[in-house]
Amino acid sequence: MAWHLAVQVDRDSAVSLTTQLQDAIKGMVEDRVLHPGTRLPSSRQLAQDLGLSRSVVVEAYEQLIAEGYLDAVRGSGTHVTRQLPEGAGSPSLLDPRPAPAVRWDLRVGIANLSNFPRQEWLSSYTKVLQNVGREGVDYPPVAGIPELRNELSGYLGRVRSVRTEPAHVMVTAGFAQGLALLCSSFQHLGIHELAIEEPGHNSQRRFILDTGIRPVPVPVDEEGLVVEELARTGVRAVLVTPAHQFPTGVTMSAKRKEELLRWAEEVDGWIIEDDYDGEFWFDRQARPPAVQDGDPERVIYAGTTSKVLVPGLRLGWLAIPPKLFPLMDRVRSRQDQGSDTLTQLAFADLMHGGLLDRHLRRVRSRYRSRSEAMAAAVREHLPDARMSGSAAGLHSYALLPQGTDEAALVQGALRRSVLVRGGQQFRFGGPAGRPALLLGYGSLPLSGISEAVAAIGEAYDELR
Ligand SMILES: Cc1ncc(COP(=O)(O)O)c(C=O)c1O
Repeated sequence: MAWHLAVQVDRDSAVSLTTQLQDAIKGMVEDRVLHPGTRLPSSRQLAQDLGLSRSVVVEAYEQLIAEGYLDAVRGSGTHVTRQLPEGAGSPSLLDPRPAPAVRWDLRVGIANLSNFPRQEWLSSYTKVLQNVGREGVDYPPVAGIPELRNELSGYLGRVRSVRTEPAHVMVTAGFAQGLALLCSSFQHLGIHELAIEEPGHNSQRRFILDTGIRPVPVPVDEEGLVVEELARTGVRAVLVTPAHQFPTGVTMSAKRKEELLRWAEEVDGWIIEDDYDGEFWFDRQARPPAVQDGDPERVIYAGTTSKVLVPGLRLGWLAIPPKLFPLMDRVRSRQDQGSDTLTQLAFADLMHGGLLDRHLRRVRSRYRSRSEAMAAAVREHLPDARMSGSAAGLHSYALLPQGTDEAALVQGALRRSVLVRGGQQFRFGGPAGRPALLLGYGSLPLSGISEAVAAIGEAYDELR
């Protein structure tokens, strides 16, 4: 029986055919277009239908089987699994799917509610509710209320050397909305491609694709995005995470920053600087300023409360080059009516009274001790690994020796009740990178770090 599957791939895309096929099938499963139990064509049949080599389909099927989307039963073919992976069907832009019940969850982007300054938030929110006038309950300006844009422009200059004015700050529903607005605005400017870092965020790549922009992966090395490669792509816009590259944790070198800024000038282009965890810096050396500081006319700086507070607030901001602001404001006003005023007022109050600074000082020292504990635990239990990204943020990246079976290690850790992600998940089909683990510590208790890494170490030793 020749089963048919209506799926398409783009041969001209920079994304590999395997990844495209994988994403397409995954999307159909998640959207319930393909129902649990549905039988898929054989790899030979699908390869023939799509004019692809069979190995492309085999690889895509195998990956989807490993991720729990498909089942293969000898003699009866490949089917959509009856029990989807937990959380499938509710993919968010950047946050991980709900976890199976495990003792230690090392995924990045897990909110730690116990760090949320409930008392401070409550007192700011109460104060706002007690004092708010009519303007507080009316439609807000789409770019945000003046009180918060004032606070943000001062704060960003003070903390991240961002050069901006309140009039050019836009409050958004997290970076997700900021990115969507940027993608729409770029299309108005005739820009239909956006370079992204590889490795990087796969869900972010899909998100960009869905806005109608073609994401073009560009490699990252120990100094950050490889600007020479970027220049070769011919694109005019790029999205980077220079402070703490996601996921490798690399901080972009000063030389690369200069090259990047020069590139933007040469191609008359735009740089989106995603500073998602820019507030957390643990090194003794001063934190390098934001790239935006080097060219406020070409760099769009983006920040968020998702790491500083919690992602559930859905609050972020963009510092926008003056000549791009009117277009973005127009695009925004066609899409929504602005962000929740009361939340904006409460956050402005939290900033104004110094409570945010106090909170940051408190959690920064907590995260610093976790980062140090993670580095110590890796030295002890995974001595073959080489760490990067420990100087900042809420996760580190452990590079493993060539030849390590990363998928088997992740599975071995899971059997020991540790949920950790491997580096391959953050690749888009370019050359396979070195095996690696992404070690998030934002939500782990200090005491759990050594135990979790010891379990990973056991799983690693078992593989050798
Ligand atoms: C690379 C990266 N950018 C941005 C964000 C924040 O996105 P949002 O503000 O939409 O929660 C995250 C997750 O917190 C992230 O991992």
